[in-house]
Amino acid sequence: MTSRPLKRSLHRITVVATCVVALAAPAAAQDQAKIDAGEAIYNDYCFTCHGEKLVSSGQTFDLRRLTAADRARFENSVLAGKNQMPPWRGVLSSEQIDLLWQFIRANAHQK
Ligand code: HEC
Repeated sequence: MTSRPLKRSLHRITVVATCVVALAAPAAAQDQAKIDAGEAIYNDYCFTCHGEKLVSSGQTFDLRRLTAADRARFENSVLAGKNQMPPWRGVLSSEQIDLLWQFIRANAHQK
């Protein structure tokens, strides 16, 4: 008579799994929406120098090299500009810069 408890625990697992999926799905969709929005901004402002899909031709810094710890460096460089790169302060909002960061992080070498 093992089938009953087994059935019950299977049911419990199904309920738990359904809840996990229900909670995780909107968050993942939201993240993807941010990444896509960041890609669109990248294609408008950064693509010409930093390369298609973040793949640098070697002339400019490859943004995929930025690690999770480089957020402050990223914001400073983007806002103030660096050498051949113009400053983006007043051009991009902090929300747009955040979306760019989401896109770059999603494609970084070191996640
Ligand atoms: C006109 C060409 C050009 C455009 C457009 C451009 N960049 Fe750059 N970017 C550069 C160059 C050149 C460098 C390398 C600067 C250096 O270290 O001398 C650079 C470097 C960087 C760095 C690294 C700076 C560091 O800390 O070493 C970041 C981050 C960056 N760019 C982000 C962006 C983002 C985001 C955009 C779009 C909003 C963008 N860039 C648009 C040319 C450009």
